[in-house]
Amino acid sequence: MTGYTMPKGFLWGGAVAAHQLEGAWNEDGKGMSVADVMTVGSATKPREITNGVIPGKNYPNHDAIDFYHHYKGDIKLMAEMGFKAFRTSIAWTRIFPKGDEKEPNEAGLKFYDDLFDECHKYGIEPVITLSHFEIPYHLVKEYGGFTNRKLIDYFVRFARVCFKRYKNKVKYWMTFNEIDNQSSFNNDFLMATNSGILFKNGMGDKEKEAAMYQAAHYELVASALAVKEGHKINPDFQIGCMINYSPVRPLTPSSDDVLLADKFEQRRDFFSDVHVNGEYPNAVEDYIERNGYRPDITEEDKIALKEGTVDYVGFSYYQSTTVSSKKVKPDELTDLQEAIVENPTLQRSDWGWEIDPEGLRISLNHLTDRYHKPLFIVENGLGAYDKREADGSVHDPYRIDYLRKHIEQMEKAVVLDGVDLMGYLPWGCIDLVSAGTGQMDKRYGFIYVDKNDKGEGTLERSKKDSFDWYKKVIESNGKDLD
Ligand code: BG6
Repeated sequence: MTGYTMPKGFLWGGAVAAHQLEGAWNEDGKGMSVADVMTVGSATKPREITNGVIPGKNYPNHDAIDFYHHYKGDIKLMAEMGFKAFRTSIAWTRIFPKGDEKEPNEAGLKFYDDLFDECHKYGIEPVITLSHFEIPYHLVKEYGGFTNRKLIDYFVRFARVCFKRYKNKVKYWMTFNEIDNQSSFNNDFLMATNSGILFKNGMGDKEKEAAMYQAAHYELVASALAVKEGHKINPDFQIGCMINYSPVRPLTPSSDDVLLADKFEQRRDFFSDVHVNGEYPNAVEDYIERNGYRPDITEEDKIALKEGTVDYVGFSYYQSTTVSSKKVKPDELTDLQEAIVENPTLQRSDWGWEIDPEGLRISLNHLTDRYHKPLFIVENGLGAYDKREADGSVHDPYRIDYLRKHIEQMEKAVVLDGVDLMGYLPWGCIDLVSAGTGQMDKRYGFIYVDKNDKGEGTLERSKKDSFDWYKKVIESNGKDLD
């Protein structure tokens, strides 16, 4: 199949996050992060968030795929595919093990120096997320995560140290990964990973939602202050936000369903609205006020938000969202997750994620119209079971099919709709620990890693069929999709 050629300099590559692949969870001075207290789950069983590390439990992020010691070989394989960019995150706890120290951990900083040098050796541009579900556990337990204003200072200190240290090695940054996920505030995993909040049993919806808006506000201020500092440290930095975008559809054409979809979108887009415009959208400001939530928002915060708007909008795209007013009336929408229904026209992955390639084109158009900013697809992909044959080969036509259809839609958005797109970084370019389930067997990679959900395996890397396919796509700058 012939696709469209992407503009010169288009950043083809892949994406990962530190806690999902590095392992070495307590080496070289690294502290414990919230990901280190999450056990393995499955497609049907949520991960348990334990009170500290309990001996005998399976914590898959502790060792992950041991990228910490294998990164040279792994980056070499990515270079072989022709990667122009590689997205990862800096584990906050490698730099500030507890999060509230004054001085950073030199060994942690050195690891990322070496990693970024290795990328540049092959002409690969690092794309760096500062906070990707890896908040120091100490900040969760002692401070209540981002419900505490002090976290703004701790995050900004962390950002400043990274910006200064990697001033000449990293140009593309993002502050918080998928900050908008917490709009589903009843989901304990999303609240713990995004904001470091562990809700107490028996807490009501109102209290949870109020806490979520408070934490989101502090994160947005922290992000804005970081953006401002980053630009001072290096005016060439491109610093973006990162959202989990999912276009919203009404289940039926009824006015109630359409209105619900609109309200859902307003509430979900609130996070990126603030990142991009530097102020709260009316709809959400009114909503917070009407509910009697009284977030601590100061005049200085408002100035910070205005002065620290982002350069681009990074986003992950996995699926679209369908909502029905049969589940929730438009005026009763609170936790967004509760309005979601299955879309009867779409197929699903083994984990129930709907597959909707056209949704990616719709997303690119929507975000362009709403923000008038460059966009960056920093995650997209299919989590699937793979089988490694005796000869080491892995045949994954389903993954190629998924990616081909999404790339096709992305290229149409760029060429036919005029979207300004910086690059395409599919998720989990090398197999890693799933964030949602903690599994290894939910695989996204072009590179197979021999390890299973029980933690068994040799960690040997091998190329899947999609490896050679993606290499051709990159070589042809998007034209050859066969
Ligand atoms: C995104 C996250 O939500 O989706 C990643 O930024 C995550 O960290 C990815 O891994 C895929 O989700 P999962 O649950 O399949 O790992």
